[in-house]
Amino acid sequence: MNKQPVWLHTLDVQQKYPPLKTSLDIDILIVGAGITGLTAAIQLKQSNKSIAVIDAHTIGSGTTGSSTANLYVPVQNYYHQIAAKFNWQVASQVAQSRKAAIDYIEQLISQYNINCSFQRRPWYMFTKLPENRLTIEREFAALTYCDMPVDFTHDLPLTKPFTKAIKLDNQARFNPLRYLYGLAEVLVKNGERIYEQTPIVSHKEYKDYCVIETPTATIKARKLLLATHIPVGFNFLQLKVYPYRSYAVAARLAQDKYPNGVIWDIDSPHFSISSHSITGEALDLLILAGNHHKTGQAKHCCHKKQQQIVEAYLKTHFDVASIDYEWSAQHYQSADGLPYIGLASRFSKNTYVATGYATDGLTYGTIAGILLADKVQAKVNPWADIYKTTRFTPLASAVKFTKENLNVLTHYLADYPGNVESQDYLAIKPGEGKIIEEQGEKWAVHRDENNQLHRVSAICTHMKCLVKWNDAEKTWDCPCHGSRFTIDGEIIEGPALTPLKKKLFHRGEEPV
Ligand code: FES
Repeated sequence: MNKQPVWLHTLDVQQKYPPLKTSLDIDILIVGAGITGLTAAIQLKQSNKSIAVIDAHTIGSGTTGSSTANLYVPVQNYYHQIAAKFNWQVASQVAQSRKAAIDYIEQLISQYNINCSFQRRPWYMFTKLPENRLTIEREFAALTYCDMPVDFTHDLPLTKPFTKAIKLDNQARFNPLRYLYGLAEVLVKNGERIYEQTPIVSHKEYKDYCVIETPTATIKARKLLLATHIPVGFNFLQLKVYPYRSYAVAARLAQDKYPNGVIWDIDSPHFSISSHSITGEALDLLILAGNHHKTGQAKHCCHKKQQQIVEAYLKTHFDVASIDYEWSAQHYQSADGLPYIGLASRFSKNTYVATGYATDGLTYGTIAGILLADKVQAKVNPWADIYKTTRFTPLASAVKFTKENLNVLTHYLADYPGNVESQDYLAIKPGEGKIIEEQGEKWAVHRDENNQLHRVSAICTHMKCLVKWNDAEKTWDCPCHGSRFTIDGEIIEGPALTPLKKKLFHRGEEPV
């Protein structure tokens, strides 16, 4: 079983572009080479501005490469709920912008001849439970209002029983990593610069420009686009978006009969079922994803159990030949249910951000790339207002805002007086991680399968919450804003800009 996301593993991801070694003075710096960043770069390539894209790791190796590779108009937060929180016009604009984003991806793929298995196919949503039938009926009505040709169906490409289902044709799948590689090639041929393995350690905005520091270079940029999934460093939006982890498995089916489409089972827990092709056009893989929880807050601290629930569902409802991949991915849910795309704050003039895509990020990320490119060029975009970062939506946000920020506060306060999991290194078994207190300092300690201990500070470098052990991915995850770190403290993702402090064991000190 491979623990990497299927797209990253099958393309044998390697660094294609060099790290940035020398300082730059440019018009626009895009931080993040996922779907948001590279879409923005493609949109800007005709702008006569000097552009560079940098990524802390490699192209698409974050959430884009961990996605389920589905493109669809429907949203996790349902259009009938968006209409209730905002109004029907906003719901309709969101639907139209998502439809336009899928068409835009298809058009780029055709224009640049990108070989990424893009195919149109239907989306379905179904329930077996009587109490969820109303949700399906409401979403049918909402999608119809938004001018989407949705229909009730009795014909679901699954054997699982259901009582109500709807179908929306003409949605799509693709290989997101091949798509990004195609965009990157177009950019580089056009003379744009892409640098991989180039994390930023700080960014600061001045009156007419921004200064961005990396470990090896200083970048002066007239405009800065933080296409980083959540703004890195400190940003007021971190009070309005909340990190969640979802679990995915990819399997081969025994009969080679793959349902053609993306299918949402909305009974609890919510699952997304979709078929894909990793060898070419023919379907040869089933991806099942769902069962999310707040980052760093798996039930009973057992992330493996979350993954096992996904596998159990798969085995119950499909004739599985082999489960080849399992992984998890992060998403950020926003307080009012819509992404935030635009200026980094109401005081900002040159720094832009995009976040809060929930689990619908490939399509929202494309919208964000288009919107951010328009914003830095001062172009009018009809979607700008619905997604703007400075919108004030107390009624739509109040419940989630209060609940999520109380949750952060609870972790912040609960973690400080104690919450140490062990005082004894010997209590940490191979494969485990625990928080240990030593001379008043808290350490996150992991014992690997070779009996080696790895010790890093347990205090998240973003805003000082205590990190939690993730037993499924062998990482330290912060429950407050979703920063995640390796066992040696390196940043994997999230708003933190500084690794966890590492404390090596000196010779003879290490307990066995
Ligand atoms: Fe904000 Fe850890 S991510 S405190």
